[in-house]
Amino acid sequence: MMLVDTHCHLMDQQFADDLDDVIRRAEAEGIGRMIVPAVDLATAHEVIRIAEAYPNVYAAVGIHPESANDVPASHFDEIERLAKHEKVVAIGEIGLDYYWDSAPHAVQQDVMARQIEIAKRVGLPIIVHNRESTEDIIQLLDRMNVAESGGVMHCFSGSENDARRCLAMGMYISFGGPVTFKKADDVRAVAAVIPDDRILVETDSPYLSPHPFRGKRNEPSRVKIVAQQVADVRNVSLEALAAQTTANALRLFSKVGL
Ligand code: NI
Repeated sequence: MMLVDTHCHLMDQQFADDLDDVIRRAEAEGIGRMIVPAVDLATAHEVIRIAEAYPNVYAAVGIHPESANDVPASHFDEIERLAKHEKVVAIGEIGLDYYWDSAPHAVQQDVMARQIEIAKRVGLPIIVHNRESTEDIIQLLDRMNVAESGGVMHCFSGSENDARRCLAMGMYISFGGPVTFKKADDVRAVAAVIPDDRILVETDSPYLSPHPFRGKRNEPSRVKIVAQQVADVRNVSLEALAAQTTANALRLFSKVGL
């Protein structure tokens, strides 16, 4: 059995002291590939360094909406250059965040749109972060014709209707630790109805640890707990869910080799 953690921030300071052990634990649990998204230009360099050091780790480069203020034009050029690295498999994470609201909405939208253009030019999918910005995200993805790049709605927590609108644009839907939370019946209901060929799993490490580790540092080995929960609500075995989500991850992130 092999699982792919499609979203883990292994460059986070919380992994600075034991990254070797974290990756070894994940591999021992069958997490055969890990994708590490950056949040700005500095972390883009870091995630590539980690991907170069570990054969099963891949990188995504991009500017997160919380870092969207005052981005120099040169940073977009550098993201595009880094995107051509052999272990960079996506542009991300990018998106809109109206909860933290670190930059004006128009600025966030511009930064996201410019990176979708990069994704199209370099032929990579996007990894989308959405917090309290669903309507604007869906409109922007539609306006930008996101099907040309493809991508994933990471750590999805929206409604079934939102999911269907994203699926209609060709997007994949990824579930993380919150699908295991006690009060997350609505998230589980959505996870139950995503088509077999569009569903992914992730941890968003070091954040969003699944139950019963909620509040503790998360790590890629725990994507197995997420996968088990998703398998349960879909009435399939963990092995079948793993095979399906791994095939999906390898199709969407086509630069990830087997
Ligand atoms: Ni993230």
